[in-house]
Amino acid sequence: MSYNINDQLDYQSSYENSLNNPEEFWHAIANNFWWKKPWEYVLKYSMSEAQFSWFKEGKTNITVNCLDRHLEKKGSKTAFIFEPNDSGQDSEHITYIDLYSRVCKLANVLRKYGIKKGDRVCIYLPMIPELTVSVLACARIGAIHSVVFAGFSSGALASRIDDCSAKLVITSDGAFRGNKLIDLKSIVDESLRSCSSVEKVLVVERTFQNISIVEGRDLLLRRELDLVEENCEPELMDAEDPLFILYTSGSTGKPKGMMHTTGGYMVYVGYTFQNVFQYRENDIYWCTADVGWITGHSYIVYGPLLNGATSVLFEGIPSFPDFGRFWEVIDKHKVTQFYTAPTAIRSLAKESLSWVNKYSLTSLKILGSVGEPINDEAWTWYFENIGKKNCPIVDTWWQTETGGILISPLPGITKLKPTFATLPLPGVQPVLMDENRREVSGNDVSGNLCIKFPWPSIARSIWGDHNRYKETYFTAYPGYYFTGDGAMRDEEGNYRITGRVDDVIIVSGHNLGTAPIEDAINEHPLIAESAVVGFPHDVKGNALYGFVSFKDGVENSDLKTLKNEINQFISGQIGPIAKLDKIQFVSSLPKTRSGKIMRRILRKIAEGDFSNFGDISTLLNPEVVEEIKNNSL
Ligand code: PRX
Repeated sequence: MSYNINDQLDYQSSYENSLNNPEEFWHAIANNFWWKKPWEYVLKYSMSEAQFSWFKEGKTNITVNCLDRHLEKKGSKTAFIFEPNDSGQDSEHITYIDLYSRVCKLANVLRKYGIKKGDRVCIYLPMIPELTVSVLACARIGAIHSVVFAGFSSGALASRIDDCSAKLVITSDGAFRGNKLIDLKSIVDESLRSCSSVEKVLVVERTFQNISIVEGRDLLLRRELDLVEENCEPELMDAEDPLFILYTSGSTGKPKGMMHTTGGYMVYVGYTFQNVFQYRENDIYWCTADVGWITGHSYIVYGPLLNGATSVLFEGIPSFPDFGRFWEVIDKHKVTQFYTAPTAIRSLAKESLSWVNKYSLTSLKILGSVGEPINDEAWTWYFENIGKKNCPIVDTWWQTETGGILISPLPGITKLKPTFATLPLPGVQPVLMDENRREVSGNDVSGNLCIKFPWPSIARSIWGDHNRYKETYFTAYPGYYFTGDGAMRDEEGNYRITGRVDDVIIVSGHNLGTAPIEDAINEHPLIAESAVVGFPHDVKGNALYGFVSFKDGVENSDLKTLKNEINQFISGQIGPIAKLDKIQFVSSLPKTRSGKIMRRILRKIAEGDFSNFGDISTLLNPEVVEEIKNNSL
């Protein structure tokens, strides 16, 4: 690979070059990968139509770049070190050759059951090797994978399966999560009652618990793998053929199936993995995310494998069997790059330092953070106690929609600034916009964060709804991609992301739209209306506060039971991650004359800030503000 950025001069010249000659710049980077046939042009795009085409007519298969290409020189190198949930069990080293043959075999099983290029396959698995194998097996044959995080409920799973009409589901009998055993297969069974597109379910045996098998539909993967060959010819994909769909919450409506394509995504995640983590041949990289999120797609599966890296794949959780688990794993496998979320850092920083000090963390070279703003206290704790003041922290800002990291320090190359994601990577042109939709010039300014020029891994659409894609990201600021985040730029041009400016709330690093949560609450027969807002929480970053009104005549209900029921409804529809921390019953919600809920006021009340509610004269029911304020939790 020859796309390493090695020093600050390299960064500056790459950055300038990427702005002045974007096509030449990306052409040279794309040449680091295997292509069966070269592209006809590097980029064609229209921001107003939300159309992006990178490396069109270039033919490749991402799994050849992730696997086949490494076999000759690195076949016996470890691709994944699987660290199981139970720390007493042995870890498993999976070499590139092993991974290659596991992927080929599973791909052959998929082909046997009629899955072909363009079909959608839903993957609902815990963090076990079969999860990465399934992702790659789909890519091998050109099937579009849609991984659904295994913490989502049956309702959320069903809506995702339905939205993309998945033909096949890959799941497991159960999942180990800390000291819990989760009935994954029953959740799938439940969701498939309402999904007609699914023809087959492949079941991985992980927990060996009892499961029900639907004849003709469900197949045990172990048996199927015995019946297929080890070789699987890769499907030749155009750079613009879809690679995957990954659902993310929107501020309104159902989740958005962000669609990513093959070539640009491959080039961008390969390039950014190498440079952001400065990966070197014998390094052991560990990203603690779940493959169910974009971080796992780009920086557990594709980015590391494209670079022939060795990664830890961790099934467990940070608090089991004790709060030393992360640090134990780092020590055990001599991890060199460690990439996690601020919420994990904050929760572990609350525990005794003796959990950290029990282990040697001297192998670490680089630390990473992703998913939400990292506050000063968490940054400093991470830097001092985990990195021992020797390891740069890469605070990486990006999104499901962006496919890869857009703003981040390059460790050892660009300067760090605590709580700042700092500088854009080559090819990325961030801008801040004012309320008149104009670019804010100069430094020491703030505004809404937009990106001015496409980068190769920008999502191409929302599955089945291009109009929604256009509306959501390309109409608020015509000619720009709007991120939904607010940001500031300091005197030196460093960016600090301040948080969402829409109705998406990031709870423990998970993106949650308020609308689907409100829909779930409103399904309760006694509830008339609800509004959910976020409030600051010292571990989760944000937590959820629901304001809920009753239907007429039910004021005397048992409130405690009702609160539990509301959270059960949410758990069933979305998943436990979306449960409310606080629920306040109100006589009505503050509304404008046109019937819109004034969330601004509710947000202030939830934050405990009663100082100034601004103009409430346009409210239909201003008197309710006082009531809500006085009863706030
Ligand atoms: O608000 C930003 C926040 O997470 C959002 C994207 O969430 P998601 O699509 O789930 O992807 C998360 C993993 C890439 C962003 O709009 N966010 C992500 N990283 C950071 C961040 N906020 C501040 N600093 C970050 N480093």
